[in-house]
Amino acid sequence: MIKQLKNIKRLFLSAVTRARVRHEASRAFRYDRAQFMAGAGALHLDRRAAARAEIVMGYHVLEKGLTMPRRRLGFGKGAVVHLINLVNAFERRFGRDDAQVRHAVGVLRAYRELHRDGHDEPLPRLDAFLSAHPDVPAAVEPHVTREAFFAAKDAPFPRFAASRHVCRHFAGPVPRQVIESAVALAVTAPSACNRQHARVHAVDDPALRDRLFAAQGGTRGFGADADKVLVVTADLSAVRWGWERHDCYVNGGLFVMNLCYALHYFGVAHCILHWSVSPEVDRAAHEFLGIPPGEAIVQVIACGLPPAEFDIAASPRLVVSDVLTWQGGGR
Ligand SMILES: Cc1cc2nc3c(=O)[nH]c(=O)nc-3n(C[C@H](O)[C@H](O)[C@H](O)COP(=O)(O)O)c2cc1C
Repeated sequence: MIKQLKNIKRLFLSAVTRARVRHEASRAFRYDRAQFMAGAGALHLDRRAAARAEIVMGYHVLEKGLTMPRRRLGFGKGAVVHLINLVNAFERRFGRDDAQVRHAVGVLRAYRELHRDGHDEPLPRLDAFLSAHPDVPAAVEPHVTREAFFAAKDAPFPRFAASRHVCRHFAGPVPRQVIESAVALAVTAPSACNRQHARVHAVDDPALRDRLFAAQGGTRGFGADADKVLVVTADLSAVRWGWERHDCYVNGGLFVMNLCYALHYFGVAHCILHWSVSPEVDRAAHEFLGIPPGEAIVQVIACGLPPAEFDIAASPRLVVSDVLTWQGGGR
């Protein structure tokens, strides 16, 4: 009898917990939706930060083009015109005092220098734009040897961290054992209550790789060279209450950063790839990769051994004053 009562109590409590978590999750996702609508740059391009982010994306497309394997002259003409328009609009509204916007001008100048002998569209427009920005030099996209790229492997953390960059040049296979060593290092990432949400699905079948990249859409011009693809997921089983709706991405993201450092440490060229895809694409990828539905795909990482030398995008960073805000009186 006592045992039965205990069982009823247990069932009742777990039903209450499930109802609470469902209720919390509904409230949390409604709140997230409102926050997204109020803040997402794509919906508020009149704001300075959103306009700048759009310019950063614009110059990033050209930086990728400038540093891609098998680069072909004449690439990205539409992207050049788009970036000129964005910079002009930004400067009219907010002025010229912004390092990221100046870098965009520098990237456009680097594009012009690469097309020194060309006179077709959109170069006359680009020339007029650049002559209105005579003080901005061409951006430098680093050309590195493999040895130089990995030279800070054993350096103190500031040098090591600064030496890590994504690489979109792959020229050889990475042994499975190296991936296993990198994952063994990556698991040192912290996680909420040590619940260790992250999982890695390593793809080394070219047909699966191509299917994944076709769905993902961010690897044009280099994805087919990747030897392996690491799909980092987070197991939702580790989530305990509704307010933790972001935990798979927070814990998964920390793991991804650690994994990228680990890959860099082991001399593996890697390119992080977004997983900002529609529910249909996400569902399909779960199916063809055999990922359980209870794991959220957090990030995809293309890996390979790099060639003897290659180009990397400069990707300059914001300055500390852009990033750090002290709240409170301070000491
Ligand atoms: C969440 C995330 C998504 C990314 N998606 C892509 C992508 O789809 N394709 C790509 O070529 N690079 C992608 N990248 C790489 C970034 O472009 C790169 O990390 C950034 O420009 C900074 O350069 P760095 O890592 O070389 O310092 C992504 C990076 C992150 C963190």
